[in-house]
Amino acid sequence: MKKEKIVIFDTTLRDGEQSPGATLNHQEKMIIANQLAKLGVDVIEAGFPVASPGDFKAIKEIGETIKGPRVAALARCLEKDIDSAAAALKNAKNPRMHVFLATSPIHMKYKLKKSPKEIIALGVQGVKMAKDNFDDIEFSPEDASRTKPKFLFEILEKVIDAGATTVNIPDTVGYAQPYEFAMLIKSIKENVPNIDDATISVHCHNDLGLAVANSLEAVRNGARQVECTINGIGERAGNASLEEIVMSLKTRKDHFGFSTGIKTREIYNASKMVSDFTGLIVQPNKAVVGRNAFAHEAGIHQHGMLSSRECYEIMDPKMIGLKTELVIGKHSGKHAVKKVLNNLGYRLTKEQLKQISAKIKSLADKQKHVMREDIIAIANDVTQQLSKEERIIELDEIVVMTGNRIMPTATVSLIVDGKMVGGLGKGVGPVDAVSRAIFSVVGSGVSLKEYNLKAITGGTDALAEVAIKVEDKKKNTYSAGAINEDVIMASAKALIKGANKVLNFERSKKKKRGKGK
Ligand code: KIV
Ligand code: ZN
Repeated sequence: MKKEKIVIFDTTLRDGEQSPGATLNHQEKMIIANQLAKLGVDVIEAGFPVASPGDFKAIKEIGETIKGPRVAALARCLEKDIDSAAAALKNAKNPRMHVFLATSPIHMKYKLKKSPKEIIALGVQGVKMAKDNFDDIEFSPEDASRTKPKFLFEILEKVIDAGATTVNIPDTVGYAQPYEFAMLIKSIKENVPNIDDATISVHCHNDLGLAVANSLEAVRNGARQVECTINGIGERAGNASLEEIVMSLKTRKDHFGFSTGIKTREIYNASKMVSDFTGLIVQPNKAVVGRNAFAHEAGIHQHGMLSSRECYEIMDPKMIGLKTELVIGKHSGKHAVKKVLNNLGYRLTKEQLKQISAKIKSLADKQKHVMREDIIAIANDVTQQLSKEERIIELDEIVVMTGNRIMPTATVSLIVDGKMVGGLGKGVGPVDAVSRAIFSVVGSGVSLKEYNLKAITGGTDALAEVAIKVEDKKKNTYSAGAINEDVIMASAKALIKGANKVLNFERSKKKKRGKGK
């Protein structure tokens, strides 16, 4: 018998992008959306259009170009939000409008300052306004798990009458416990008279580490759509992780009895891409996609694995697309590189392809093996390059002195707005000295908040990947990354990119203020 399907609603580009420190540029959003389509998600929530012009542009382009998934835009139950979402989705192939309104006593009283009666009227009005534009309407009573059940049943009934086709139950603050959340979903099925006219969805946050467990229990009790993100990224402690939900439903289909449309072999690519683009590193012991998820350390486990993989593995790593085979050699041409990267969801310009192929060739000359991870890192480095106009600062020269008897010192010569400027820094290590030298040129108030270094593959000749976060005077954070065979050079490139992001932001603000006068 064919299994009933669970709708996978991916909100990596909306809730996921709300993760502290994660911002994605337009090209990165488009590449991720392509990968999500390849992964087979049913709905891509592409952003909150009224919140930023960048979200608006991404929703519009994703809605008009991505084949397969529905594309959703988020809106509060306000005319300006709904108008903006309607404009962004106007030419989308498969649009969905997602309207939300808080319904818990605490949100109604302190955030919205409205009575329950006013909230119902606003919710119904929001759904009707959305319905004037589209057929597929999702309504979310924000903070549903802390909403009085009777009130929740009432508003759900009214918004379904008004035209909502999906009702999403968010555990906005990650407060619910699995049994309790399961019973909430069950009670919605039993107490909302017209519930069969809509799909029940759930959207769980991970503040107590229960987002996946709560979502799965909800599925067992009537939810047929799950909202989730790649690597579980999202507000605060994040959302339910897509890969954990999907692999639970697949590995334990005996327990759940549902299917999804996810092509699980694309999971690893999606996870790597989201981690690289957002700068949010996946913890090594993260279920399904962590570096150690399929590593076996203990001798007794290794022995068991050699006898039969199933002794200690409940999933085959191949199921999530985990393979580190050699895909490109130094004799591979541009076509081969293009094919590999197209398969990974990249859409490259001619110039980008040329640069990537040249870098792969040069790496293949130095390093025996060029693995898929190397190619992805090089492609990310090239596609995330700042444009010529955005490169306010460029590196001319860098000299670093370090040793066991001297204090590490760096001197840099940078080109700032076309002029040569020198900087000097001393630090506890060479990278610290380089960072001080660069920031001495950028000016006060810019500082390095996070620094992560990893060798992509191989040994001491491996490509080094540096991911950093810098902070400006106003405490805005900016992610930047770079790769190089030399750790110091990768660090300097990432630091200069971070500094350029700060300067671009400050200049665009100044320009806007100038126009406003
Ligand atoms: O967490 C939440 O409540 C949300 C809603 C907008 C669905 O993200
Ligand atoms: Zn959320």
